[in-house]
Amino acid sequence: MHKKSLIPFKIETLDPMGQGVSKIGEQITFIAKTLPGEEGDAEVARKRKQVQFANLIKVTQPSSIREKSPCPHFWQCSGCHYLHTSYENELNFKKESLGKIFRDWPGQLIDLHPAPRRVDYRNRVQLHYDLNANKLGFHKSQSTKIIEVPSCLLPLGPIREQIKNLYQNESWIKLASRTGEKEGHVELYLKDNEVSLAWNKSYAEGGFTQVYSEMNELMKAWIPQQFHKDSYEVLDLFGGNGNISSSLKYKKRFVVDYYNKPTEAEFLSQDLFHENAVATVKSALNFVPNLLIFDPPRSGVKNLEEWTQAFNPETILYVSCDPHTLARDLKSLGNKYKLEKLNLFDFFPSTFHFETVAILSRAY
Ligand SMILES: C[S@@+](CC[C@H](N)C(=O)[O-])C[C@H]1O[C@@H](n2cnc3c(N)ncnc32)[C@H](O)[C@@H]1O
Repeated sequence: MHKKSLIPFKIETLDPMGQGVSKIGEQITFIAKTLPGEEGDAEVARKRKQVQFANLIKVTQPSSIREKSPCPHFWQCSGCHYLHTSYENELNFKKESLGKIFRDWPGQLIDLHPAPRRVDYRNRVQLHYDLNANKLGFHKSQSTKIIEVPSCLLPLGPIREQIKNLYQNESWIKLASRTGEKEGHVELYLKDNEVSLAWNKSYAEGGFTQVYSEMNELMKAWIPQQFHKDSYEVLDLFGGNGNISSSLKYKKRFVVDYYNKPTEAEFLSQDLFHENAVATVKSALNFVPNLLIFDPPRSGVKNLEEWTQAFNPETILYVSCDPHTLARDLKSLGNKYKLEKLNLFDFFPSTFHFETVAILSRAY
């Protein structure tokens, strides 16, 4: 078998995905689970035109901030990215990464909202299975290879118990076989203190909810402190069950989502990426909103400007799980809206993900 050669590395910085970046000659190499200043050996796994991705083999010069990971799967699994250093360092890396993305915004300040717990928080987890390979677990990054994770630390206790049960005596095999599909996934989610298992259903079975319930409560307690009027007429786009707008004092509220539905709010089911979405929502409304809320999937809202032109809101609250698309979308507004502060809410500790909450006021 062809043996891959080792390359020596020195890490200069971390990228937004928590991967170490090493420059050897003109070649940029990304190596996960390394830290700035570290040296060692890595093995190239994938090459693209300008860059390559390598697996860490050995650290010869460890960083002083390196720590032993509390998770037994950390080295094989691609689910967590920062468990080899403290939570404080993780937060600093995240803040730095957000700051870099918004570096062109003059005097931009970032307020950090850390999580109460770094592990033991997810109320929903998706595992993949492959009956031919006899494996249940998470996909390895950029691959369909499955890494087994019987002791994953991120889910809440009752879900961790269920995951253990699935691995015990390989009981998952019987359950997965019943689906009739050789490959698929199972979603474990907590609802009314019970763990439910959904085999091969689309994501967020049982309705979308934020995966870190306590962080969601923190965000919802913080939002009304930023909005002092009680005359908001709110249009909550990508509103799900109305989670975000429900935290506000409002005069009127209208929620739009395609896949979920609030129990108590005026609501429209609409594909918000459809080319006529703005006009359709406008004609469904019987008021002119002065506050627009956006909480889109990672792809963001490419036509943010079209929405603001249609409603000319005084205020925009944009909750984003991808700071790159957030920056792209906010840029499209030019000087018409002023971004006061960025708020980093750490909804996904141990991983490179987080939520950014931006509040913008109309400048003229
Ligand atoms: C990040 S979640 C936010 C949900 C809600 N704001 C909350 O805090 O629970 C994104 C929401 O966008 C909805 N969504 C995804 N694609 C959509 C589309 N094309 N049109 C409308 N809604 C969509 C999902 O159903 C989901 O509820």
